[in-house]
Amino acid sequence: MTERTTDFREHLIRYGGDTYPEIVEKAQGCYVWDASGNKILDFTSGQMCATVGHNHPNIVAAIRKSCDTALHLFSGMIPRSVVELARAIAKIVPRPLTKSMFVNTGSESNEAAIKMAKLYTGGFEVVALGGSWHGVTGNAGAVSFASDRKGYGPGMPGTFALPEPNAYRCPVRHCRDRCDLTCMKVGFELYDMQSTGARAAVIAEPVISAGGVIVPPDGYFDALQKETQKRGMLMIFDEAQTAFGRLGHWFAASHLKVTPDLLTVSKTLGGGIPLAAVITTDEIEAKCHERHFAFYTSHVSDPLPATVGLAVLETIAGEHLLERSREMGEYLAASLRELQERHEEIGDVRGMGLLRGIELVTDRETRAPHHALGALTTERCLQLGLSMNIRRRPERGSVWRIAPPLTVTREDIDRAMTIFDQSLSEMKEVLARRPGSGTRSEPAARKHSMAGHRGRQTPM
Ligand SMILES: Cc1ncc(COP(=O)(O)O)c(C=O)c1O
Repeated sequence: MTERTTDFREHLIRYGGDTYPEIVEKAQGCYVWDASGNKILDFTSGQMCATVGHNHPNIVAAIRKSCDTALHLFSGMIPRSVVELARAIAKIVPRPLTKSMFVNTGSESNEAAIKMAKLYTGGFEVVALGGSWHGVTGNAGAVSFASDRKGYGPGMPGTFALPEPNAYRCPVRHCRDRCDLTCMKVGFELYDMQSTGARAAVIAEPVISAGGVIVPPDGYFDALQKETQKRGMLMIFDEAQTAFGRLGHWFAASHLKVTPDLLTVSKTLGGGIPLAAVITTDEIEAKCHERHFAFYTSHVSDPLPATVGLAVLETIAGEHLLERSREMGEYLAASLRELQERHEEIGDVRGMGLLRGIELVTDRETRAPHHALGALTTERCLQLGLSMNIRRRPERGSVWRIAPPLTVTREDIDRAMTIFDQSLSEMKEVLARRPGSGTRSEPAARKHSMAGHRGRQTPM
């Protein structure tokens, strides 16, 4: 029996979201190939990690080098690659951030950052932005509001949500198209009413990615930092997606000119290999150490991922990928705005660098989300060879997150836009032929879906 006649997922636990209907065999550059030989343009950079392109030769060489040196060590031994990576990061990260600790995943890095903030401040309350995604583990999962929290019992005590600065869909129903930070003021007023006074941290993504690619307005993070400091809390920036070039800069923090107390990086540091870091100041590190900070995992300071991280940083610098991200990001944004002129259903195009969001609506005035078109179009794009991630949440709209590797070419973008344009046009027609089009519920859209694949809805 072939994999086509058996279910290849037979012995796999389902971990959320839809899976691609075929086994994927290979990934290279901006493309992946499935078992049938279909070549798919990867506009999600894997899980937002492969910024230098899949299987970049420098990453492959770094893995080979690790095979000749060391793959893994006792957690109390520090390999040369870890020392060098910490130095390389210290050279590009805004001061006074200087010290790093290397772990594997974004969840872990946020777990560690929140623990450090708690230890440093002596408090335990953590405020996070609505729509945020910081991971799936205890502390990180507790401050993630774009994920499904139902069914797991109580989260971490002392977790608070601040309405996110979404100018297209104002969460406090106050602004339209220009956020005046009322959401932040209302959020902190509510937080202060509930606080026990044991405050620890405010955590934020510089661009709220899984929450719909929301770019906070100018001045937002200065104001957030002021509010954070006023309350004696530490500010944590989660740059899992935004660091190392996705927005066209080494860090969003450098671009925003706001330096947090703790900065976490993950996905884009390993370029596809599990690697993450917490970066902080000498002062915070010293105090946490004094208070016996412990995060002694099996793979803390492992040599292989650090060697890869160095290769990723060298590749970004050597191939001028920061500049390229800005240039290609502008080209992508212009192409998307052109599509918006032709498709009424594209209500909003937003984002920075090579992280762009496209929000689909049934009507530009009411901004009612067009979930059905989002699901069908995503699926059609995939059939035609373009993989994109869509976020569909009833109260937050249908938003595609487009994030190709920074090595993407104009030709790749043109090809993606042609597929996107064709898919949108075809699926609009499919829906127009059905009664009640455009306002159909998501389950109805699923019933009409072509391959039983729900348009790549994923949890993040
Ligand atoms: C901003 C952000 N932080 C943290 C995480 C969690 O990272 P990981 O999945 O590596 O644990 C994610 C994952 O999508 C993320 O987008």
